[in-house]
Amino acid sequence: MRIAQEGLGDVLLIDVVKGRAAGKAMDLEDARGLLKFNYHIKGSDDIGELKGSDIVVVTAGLARTPGMSRQDLLSKNAQILRDVCLNIKAKASGAIVIIVTNPLDIMTLYALKITGFKPNKLFGMGSSLDSARFANLIAQELSLSATDIEAVVIGAHGEAMLPLPRFTKVKGVSLDEFIDDKKIESLISRTINRGAEIVSSLGTGSAFFAPSAAIAVIVKAIAKDEKRTIGLCGYLNGEYGIKGTCLGVPCRLGKHGIEKVIELDLSLEEKSKLAKSGSLVAQAAEQLLA
Ligand code: 2OP
Repeated sequence: MRIAQEGLGDVLLIDVVKGRAAGKAMDLEDARGLLKFNYHIKGSDDIGELKGSDIVVVTAGLARTPGMSRQDLLSKNAQILRDVCLNIKAKASGAIVIIVTNPLDIMTLYALKITGFKPNKLFGMGSSLDSARFANLIAQELSLSATDIEAVVIGAHGEAMLPLPRFTKVKGVSLDEFIDDKKIESLISRTINRGAEIVSSLGTGSAFFAPSAAIAVIVKAIAKDEKRTIGLCGYLNGEYGIKGTCLGVPCRLGKHGIEKVIELDLSLEEKSKLAKSGSLVAQAAEQLLA
């Protein structure tokens, strides 16, 4: 809906459950007359219809239920993702692919290996959502406007994520300059657990609305060649001293996908945390391929 409403292109929804995507598409398109904007949304249960797509957003897979970590979804979602990726490779080899399926970092690396796509063209959504959550919690805590906060979160989209107070600014002032360490620690741990907090409150399913906003921002940056810097799960090839794995890092994004991985000046401790979670991601992806 967000992608269509922004006028970013025609949208095709695909879901394996017969009729579900078609029904959603009908409902979404019915709103055109009310919104006074002509967008096109179709739905199908035939994955072959993605043929020739410019941008593919992969959300296929199971979501967490209360008490589960994103990691618990690993083997089931890997099977689903494999099938989807082989179809993308066969039918939309020119597409830019955005992976959303969890556990995100492992699934992104796995999808890269299966498709053989170049890393600039296949990456994951994660850090920009985590940063938005960090910004929202800071805004609540300090009674500030969320729009004035530039929050920075990098690393895995999971328990090992690294919210970075030093790089998080409110109109140029770093967070660690105006709130105490205890409060920062609590904001960091609430950010890391935000997805689980939502899952546990919902009872079934996981977050939709902020993830969809994060996806729409990424699609827009590509469709409009905006060259924005956005936190994405990207492939590291020596950046941050890490090679051969996928993790959340700021990336410059335009019509060809990732144009550049931006390197932040991290502390040694931050670097080593990042390297550690990067190698766990690589190991897990290797196991799936074995
Ligand atoms: C989340 O963090 C869906 O992984 C996504 O809510």
